[in-house]
Amino acid sequence: MTKASVDEAPLLRVRDLDVTYRGTDGPVPAVRGVSFDVAPGEVLGLVGESGSGKSSVCTALMGLLPDGARMRADDIDFQGDNLATMRERELRKVRGRRLAFVPQQPMTSLSPTTSVGRQLRWYLGDRLDDLELRETLVGIGLGPVLDRPRDLPGAFSGGQLQRVVIALAALAHEPALLLADEPTTTLDATVQAQVLRLLLALRDKLGLAVVYVSHDLAVVSAICDRVGVMYGGRLVETAPVAEIFAAPRHPYTRALIAAMPAMTPEDRPLRAIPGTADGANLLPGCPFAPRCAHVLDVCGERMPGSVRRGASDVRCHVVEREDA
Ligand SMILES: Nc1ncnc2c1ncn2[C@@H]1O[C@H](COP(=O)(O)OP(=O)(O)OP(=O)(O)O)[C@@H](O)[C@H]1O
Ligand SMILES: [Mg+2]
Repeated sequence: MTKASVDEAPLLRVRDLDVTYRGTDGPVPAVRGVSFDVAPGEVLGLVGESGSGKSSVCTALMGLLPDGARMRADDIDFQGDNLATMRERELRKVRGRRLAFVPQQPMTSLSPTTSVGRQLRWYLGDRLDDLELRETLVGIGLGPVLDRPRDLPGAFSGGQLQRVVIALAALAHEPALLLADEPTTTLDATVQAQVLRLLLALRDKLGLAVVYVSHDLAVVSAICDRVGVMYGGRLVETAPVAEIFAAPRHPYTRALIAAMPAMTPEDRPLRAIPGTADGANLLPGCPFAPRCAHVLDVCGERMPGSVRRGASDVRCHVVEREDA
């Protein structure tokens, strides 16, 4: 393969992904017809309010959905393998190696009764000798962790542990893609910035791609190349980060950006989006229709396909009717 054709092929190609949970009142369609690509080395942000399906996309890609949950997709092509149809035994060879996952709670991926120094050597020792390990960790601001070789995870701060988990996920096998599900939500702003810097440093050093899940558009604007906006289980808009802020197309994306504190002059009250997202994942048409200021009759009836406007891919009947 020539370099050009390698560059052109997406690393991950998701087509028409559905995830459905078994709820007490019947099936819960958590992800519906979601399609997106991730290019090698790209950071794709996935934003949307609570319950929009962001974590379900990550757990489905990892093959880690809970019992009773079902997924289907036309295609989930990851480096030439279809993750949607892979058997568990084969998936295990991909998971944690070519495809790594950083969950929201770092403690869930560390052993609480083994020192952090030992766990680092355990996972990274095969790849790095002691000197390389120290140099690597110092380079990403984790040198102090090695100076406390006997301390258990409980003796470190949440921010330090989160960086340890990211370092382990990224360095143990040098994955091509890292899925990070809200890795900074529980951290204060300074530590958040350190974690984000670490992610970007690893991306630059290892060339890995990242899917970065967040509620926080400001964080996303700082680190992502492209952003996907989810609502009610649907991916309603995907665009380069500059385009999302300069020319948001979907009414939900526009409302989200208008609600960002930094976008609101001090003399203007913060504009909340009227209504709630409750039950949006059950609607047959556009999930945002009940809250949309531009709603048409057709919006309640069926979800539109994706159209390209500028550099954005948008699923909206109103946008579809505007001149291309
Ligand atoms: N194990 C489960 N059983 C039943 N329903 C679930 C389960 N996990 C998630 N859901 C439902 O699936 C939908 C999507 O949830 P998901 O956790 O993917 O959203 P999210 O965007 O990650 O939200 P948050 O921002 O709060 O993390 C929600 O309606 C949620 O209630
Ligand atoms: Mg989540």
